[in-house]
Amino acid sequence: MHKILMVYATTDGHTRKICERIDHQLRTKGSEATLVEVADVGMIDPAAYDCIVVGGSVRYGKHDAGLQEFMLHHESLLRDRYCAFFSVNLIARVPEKRTIEGNVYVRKFIEALPFQPHHVEIIAGKLDYPSYGFLDRFMIRLIMRMTGGPTDPKTVIDYTDWDGVDQFADRLAAASEHPRIGPEKEPE
Ligand SMILES: Cc1cc2nc3c(=O)[nH]c(=O)nc-3n(C[C@H](O)[C@H](O)[C@H](O)COP(=O)(O)O)c2cc1C
Repeated sequence: MHKILMVYATTDGHTRKICERIDHQLRTKGSEATLVEVADVGMIDPAAYDCIVVGGSVRYGKHDAGLQEFMLHHESLLRDRYCAFFSVNLIARVPEKRTIEGNVYVRKFIEALPFQPHHVEIIAGKLDYPSYGFLDRFMIRLIMRMTGGPTDPKTVIDYTDWDGVDQFADRLAAASEHPRIGPEKEPE
């Protein structure tokens, strides 16, 4: 069985939930992943994995800086093995924002890398006003007002397309069968 590493950054736990769902789906395909929060990634050796997935949520327009640091630090390894990046954010609740060109956070993240991951997945996140502190709630309501989303402070909506997450996991399971594919090519 090929080994898949998932390095993730989460603030409120939604990205971790997505990673756990991916791992669950991988297991149905006879595969599995090791999940490591980016802050703890120094404790593992990424070279021991065949397929590396990096992902995290967006907070105030940015992904956790540790994700980019990890990818830059392991550039030659990630060029050599199958590497996927995924982003979790609320603007992705709109289909046009689920492409690299349409999603400014992802576009900037990818442009700042000296290489292209083999696959980029953009996943809509969770809106949970009651769990936010005063300032965060105020700011997210502002973002939502600007982008035509819900502003009622009682709103809790999980926008994640969980079937889409399963399909992403299936893609990873297939890719892990051909992990060393060279730069910027998706396996058939
Ligand atoms: C303080 C805060 C700031 C956020 N900023 C953005 C943002 O700038 N753009 C966006 O699309 N989503 C934004 N989000 C939404 C998160 O990306 C979304 O809720 C995601 O599901 C959070 O995942 P996590 O729990 O793994 O951190 C923000 C959420 C919070 C709480």
